[in-house]
Amino acid sequence: MSDVTIAFRLNGRMVSATVAPTQAALECLRDQFALTGAKLGCGEGECGACAILLDGQAALGCLTPAADLDGREVRTVEGLRDGPALGRIQAALVHEGAVQCGFCTPGMAVAAAALLAEHPAPTVEQIRRGLEGNLCRCTGYVAIVQAVQTAAEPTP
Ligand code: FES
Ligand code: FES
Repeated sequence: MSDVTIAFRLNGRMVSATVAPTQAALECLRDQFALTGAKLGCGEGECGACAILLDGQAALGCLTPAADLDGREVRTVEGLRDGPALGRIQAALVHEGAVQCGFCTPGMAVAAAALLAEHPAPTVEQIRRGLEGNLCRCTGYVAIVQAVQTAAEPTP
């Protein structure tokens, strides 16, 4: 099968890319657009380190074919920033001490963004469920859950 050319909206701007049919979205975003926030962890859909937003829904970049990005709205953790500053979720993760080695953090931020879009004021149970596909080997999750609660709080 030959390469295909795709066009999609990436962090708010239209882009195009030529991708192999076997190429994963994660590889395309990292290699062709230098968006290295999403990480290759397990490569098998088990850890969430590769999470991206596809049309506002959390998706696994390691399992999503790059060709499937065509015509979609794609947002990576880099697209969660607030101009030059960290976005609300990213800042909350830092503020609550929810970042240790940081490997899981981009995926957690993306999963949290999808969760808060659906549940702007989530319960702890909803946060746990929303993040259950994202593994963290360092923090024990308490600070991460707290960070999502902090990010969800309305601005005074
Ligand atoms: S790298 Fe995609 S789920 Fe682990
Ligand atoms: S902070 Fe290290 S894996 Fe989560």
